[in-house]
Amino acid sequence: PSSPTATADEDLAVGGVRLAEIAATYGTPAYVLDEADVRARARAYRSALPEAEIAYAGKAFLCRAMIGWVQSEGLSLDVCSGGELALARHVGFPADRIVLHGNAKTPRDVQDALGYGVGRIVVDSTYEITQLAVAAHAGHPQKVLIRVTPGLDAHTHKAIATGVEDQKFGFSLATGAAADAVRQVLHWQLADRPALELAGLHCHLGSQITSVDIFAEAARRLIALMAWSRDEFNVIVPELDLGGGHAVGYRDGDPDFDLETYARTIRTTIAKACHQHRLPIPKLTVEPGRAIVARAGVTLYRVLTMKRIPGIRTFVAVDGGMSDNPRPALYGSAYTARLIGRTSTAPPEPMTVVGRHCEAGDVIAHDLPLPTDLRPGDLLAVPCTGAYQHSMASTYNQVCRPPVIAVRDGVARVLIRRETLEDLQARDVSL
Ligand code: LLP
Repeated sequence: PSSPTATADEDLAVGGVRLAEIAATYGTPAYVLDEADVRARARAYRSALPEAEIAYAGKAFLCRAMIGWVQSEGLSLDVCSGGELALARHVGFPADRIVLHGNAKTPRDVQDALGYGVGRIVVDSTYEITQLAVAAHAGHPQKVLIRVTPGLDAHTHKAIATGVEDQKFGFSLATGAAADAVRQVLHWQLADRPALELAGLHCHLGSQITSVDIFAEAARRLIALMAWSRDEFNVIVPELDLGGGHAVGYRDGDPDFDLETYARTIRTTIAKACHQHRLPIPKLTVEPGRAIVARAGVTLYRVLTMKRIPGIRTFVAVDGGMSDNPRPALYGSAYTARLIGRTSTAPPEPMTVVGRHCEAGDVIAHDLPLPTDLRPGDLLAVPCTGAYQHSMASTYNQVCRPPVIAVRDGVARVLIRRETLEDLQARDVSL
């Protein structure tokens, strides 16, 4: 149930609901989310990796309904702020299935996580380890994962490459910082009244990664550190969390992440490395975000105006833009768009779809083949917008954020309502 299905553009439907009908009912711009698609991908992860804990990375997209889907599909939840944690808490997501991330957690984040009793907290600096150990209740150790920087370049956009040495996340393996972190956490674990418990080692190599081999190499490096921990302290580290980052092809022909190959490769790599080091097989955790939710999303826009600059380019301006999809501007990400709501037989011509914001970088998609009879009032659908779109949306230029409409079995329902000017102005409290 992946991409929109249709016989003609005018009938383009997702989850059994015509997109044009959604635009007519709820207005544009609007994010549409296919519930069955999200659930199917969650299940695909569980069946490809039945031995693993699958923690959905909520930063990709989060709302109460989504947390419910994640829970009912048997996934765990990776949160990276007190805000995401509060949402999970609000719907009663089981605390022991929550993993809290963050390179700079606020004292409040930590208090809330301890108060709710989250399963694991991923520690990211020596200062944080000390702070957490002091805040945790001695005698009731908080489980922690140590975020390790394995020194691997995932060859993705620089802003989302987190496995290389020179960045803010994690404890470097190469400099010995990761080993020191193990030592530091075990100091608190092996105390008379332990405040921390080393539940595992974690790494997140980056996002939108297509290579499977790099995850295998990360697993080997982390297992070597587990062996060191056993040799040095006689402590077996029970869990290996390989993070997320599994790529999604945004356009036809873009490379996709091969989940089956990943599962097979990781499984054999871990077995082999553990055999070599005479270690028991650790529990595996993975944290996909984008791969669960990206394809389930479609954004609907209405064309507001067009501009043809002879010999240069045709611009198609829609009623959204970088406030609802900042990814092209931030990472140079490429999207497609297609006409919906009517069938056109006009020949296609390259057009650039831009937004309504006050900067030239406000582009949704460059040089797409769109029908020459495209005109203001037409509807465009931009697929693959379920991940890091709504979650990164802004109110730039005092533009209201679009609603999120879920579709399933021919029924549409609002998950997140459209933002209003009253919402926007409510925080502006002084004249
Ligand atoms: N685990 C950790 C610790 C992470 O930091 C992330 C993403 C994930 C898991 C999930 O990664 P995914 O499977 O979704 O690639 N805003 C960027 C992506 C930032 C990803 C940040 N961390 C984008 O729109 O491409």
